Amino acid sequence: MDDSELIQVASDALGSAYAPYSKFRVGASVLAEGGEVSTGCNVENSSFGLTICAERAAIFAAVGRGARTIEKVVIVGEKADHPPYPCGACLQVMAEFGVKTVIVGTMGGPFKSYAYAELLPRPFKF
Ligand code: THU
Repeated sequence: MDDSELIQVASDALGSAYAPYSKFRVGASVLAEGGEVSTGCNVENSSFGLTICAERAAIFAAVGRGARTIEKVVIVGEKADHPPYPCGACLQVMAEFGVKTVIVGTMGGPFKSYAYAELLPRPFKF
């Protein structure tokens, strides 16, 4: 799947976001080694700390389907002035599965592609 298709499926996933508290809906898609695509959306909770970000949900979905290496993560928000750059926790989860590229943007564009190492140069490795 090419980048524009990954952006499309991430945008579609945004439609399922559960974000009644922040009203900040996010969708994500991930491309696993081998070409399988998984998606996710943010899911909030009245106990705010239990919220899961869209990209982490998408990564966990991919891992649950057997993926162990993830090439690319696409994250789509809907607020033009607030691109949904991944939080530190999600970047650390990406390190676990070898993510190389992260594409971030808002519905309708623009989108920007980042090398993972630009966003978190020194992830924790055990
Ligand atoms: N959020 C994501 O899903 N991904 C990001 O990259 C940034 C933040 C969500 C978490 C929360 O539901 C809402 O956006 C506001 O922080």
